[in-house]
Amino acid sequence: MSEAGKIMLVGIGPGAVEHMTQRARDAIAESDVVIGYVTYIKLVADLIEGKEIIRKSMTEELDRAVSALEAARAGKKVALISSGDAGVYGMAGPTYEVLFQAGWTPDDAVQVEIIPGASALNSCAALVGAPLTHDFCAISLSDLLTPWPTIARRLDAVAMADFVVALYNPKSGRRTRQIVEAQRLFLRHRRPDTPVAIVKSGYRRRQNIVFTTLDSMADADIGMLSTVLIGNSNTFVRHGLMVTPRGYANKYDMEEGGATRDGEKAGRSLSTGLLGWLETLQAEHAAGDSIEVLAARHRLPADYIHATLNEPWEAEAPATEESEA
Ligand SMILES: C[S@@+](CC[C@H](N)C(=O)[O-])C[C@H]1O[C@@H](n2cnc3c(N)ncnc32)[C@H](O)[C@@H]1O
Repeated sequence: MSEAGKIMLVGIGPGAVEHMTQRARDAIAESDVVIGYVTYIKLVADLIEGKEIIRKSMTEELDRAVSALEAARAGKKVALISSGDAGVYGMAGPTYEVLFQAGWTPDDAVQVEIIPGASALNSCAALVGAPLTHDFCAISLSDLLTPWPTIARRLDAVAMADFVVALYNPKSGRRTRQIVEAQRLFLRHRRPDTPVAIVKSGYRRRQNIVFTTLDSMADADIGMLSTVLIGNSNTFVRHGLMVTPRGYANKYDMEEGGATRDGEKAGRSLSTGLLGWLETLQAEHAAGDSIEVLAARHRLPADYIHATLNEPWEAEAPATEESEA
């Protein structure tokens, strides 16, 4: 083969073929070689007939990247398959690390394309309602490559900061205590009845969905193929659906036909948005509250309160077309 090869990092979505993007299918179709973890190869079995298949086990990520580079250097088009999105706890990072180590640069004859897919958090959220409609983050509980104190610090920080959280790699046959520790850290900041949804094998044959609460989540059936979604302090479950409010109730009275609340304006920051809050802060400080008292009240660092109080600021610009983001 004379043409330069290509590495395509293909995110195949949660599992079901109909949730794979057209570009992901095309990439697999145009590849000469398909490399992936055995389970993912099985998920795309219908699309890979007649191709060279390299099956690797779970722990052989770097091997998969090295094999992909070797094949691409030999002029082949390689589809490196990841479940969900290849850039979310997937093959994209390890592949670039291997490529850089081998002296590859973006000008190299071997091209690289990352093909996005729906990650587990998108798929699992879609199956349980609308849990991610406010700020959220993902944390992997796998300590195979990450020290536990790093994971625990992140859990503690996001639990305190009231993010909705998607826990990836929550539990395996050998890693059973991590989810219990995550629960312990979350319970320091969140109510025991905080809604939790556990999706196992979303959009796959053995799909199983459980709704539970933070104080019971560690007792639920959780495995290698589960994603655990923990709500924030406003998340609720109604009619079997987990929903995190977008914040409309802060501005509009939903019971009064959506009338704007006193002091609020459509298309403008909330009265408790940055500028409104700064006015409150200035007033509280002028009334004698110390920086330390304000820091404790607003649960923010004292040096931040100090800096904002001393920063000159301007009134909000006139309203423009802006969604309620
Ligand atoms: C190594 S990570 C791979 C994540 C993948 N790249 C993604 O974007 O979804 C594996 C973890 O993803 C989650 N996961 C992947 N597919 C899933 C599915 N179909 N249903 C539920 N969780 C899934 C589980 O938490 C699992 O432990």
